[in-house]
Amino acid sequence: MAKIFVDACLGKETPYTPVWMMRQAGRYLPEYKAVRAQAGNFLNLCHDPAKACEVTLQPVDILGVDAAILFSDILVVPNEMGMKLDFVAGEGPVFEKPVRTQEEVDALMGGEAAADKLTYVYETIRLIKEQLADDKALIGFTGAPWTLATYMIEGQGTKTYNICKKMMYSAPELLHEILQKVTEVVKYYLEKQILSGVDVVQIFDSWAAAIEPSKYDEFSWKYMVEIADYIKGKYPHIPIIMFPKGIAAFIERGWVYGNFDVFGVDWGTPMALAKEKLSDRYVLQGNMEPCRLYSKEQTTICVEALQDIMGGKRHIFNLGHGILPDVPVENAKHFIDECHRVSKQK
Ligand code: CP3
Repeated sequence: MAKIFVDACLGKETPYTPVWMMRQAGRYLPEYKAVRAQAGNFLNLCHDPAKACEVTLQPVDILGVDAAILFSDILVVPNEMGMKLDFVAGEGPVFEKPVRTQEEVDALMGGEAAADKLTYVYETIRLIKEQLADDKALIGFTGAPWTLATYMIEGQGTKTYNICKKMMYSAPELLHEILQKVTEVVKYYLEKQILSGVDVVQIFDSWAAAIEPSKYDEFSWKYMVEIADYIKGKYPHIPIIMFPKGIAAFIERGWVYGNFDVFGVDWGTPMALAKEKLSDRYVLQGNMEPCRLYSKEQTTICVEALQDIMGGKRHIFNLGHGILPDVPVENAKHFIDECHRVSKQK
């Protein structure tokens, strides 16, 4: 059966504009919190295919989104490369021992061997595909090498990225070694997700905006292009969504080459600008400011405005970043319903 989300990613005409939300499987859903409590903690949940499958399907059943996104986290990759990971309540992810020296980089497991350790992810995908309705798509994902490297080098989330940037400006070869090693693992990781059954893949470069514009290509974009070339070379039918957060300045210059199908537009970038500069090359995904979800009225205004700009063509509705944990479920449902309503009217 045709999957409207996959068709939309490939730029085909669809009966309405599909919608999903970044971070749609998460703490704003009481049903998610119940399964997470059973699992004990977040990483246990990622490691348990039956439970990860259950929470992946929740937003499809509860909200009626057109695509499910695999429940996991971008940081399971460095974890399997040998970095001990913990999620500390209130603080987010923490790596016990950050990677900052040549010896520490050399000690990381690389290539297919590291990707092979993520068996619980591939098993989760197989379970989801058994249960997901035929007309819904499953999105697999990875963090961009740069975004992953920020956590690996800093050891946790950061406001200044000062340790990464010290490496960027004083030992760039070492940073490139880390980025290249992560890139190799990610190529195999996405490939194995595809072989397990995902229909589409998304690359999250959540911390793109931390890099100054003249360095972004060298330290982030070119690695994502390398990953996309590898995947497209072997699986040309699998759409790739690129989500680099906070790079309106590049879009302005029309600079965004690469073998991607869909460009995820963050909420700080005007959709009309993205359309003008990118829509001949990419289908555009996005880009409602996630905090509009606190108001149903503001949600409707934004959905209608996005529909006016995109006209139901080469567009996928989404937020411009992840949904926050204190959004009422009924408001999230309102967003999904409104996207379907306005795009069915066209
Ligand atoms: O989108 C989905 O619903 C699928 C699952 C998913 C999660 N994380 C689950 C998660 C996805 C695609 C991610 C990606 C991710 N993880 C990103 C990129 C996307 C983005 O939002 O920019 C990043 C930067 C991470 C790293 C990460 N994971 C952080 C910083 C945190 C702590 C902050 C937070 O949101 O709690 C996590 C934890 C995390 N990942 C949770 C979930 C549902 C919360 C864990 C919990 O239940 O306590």
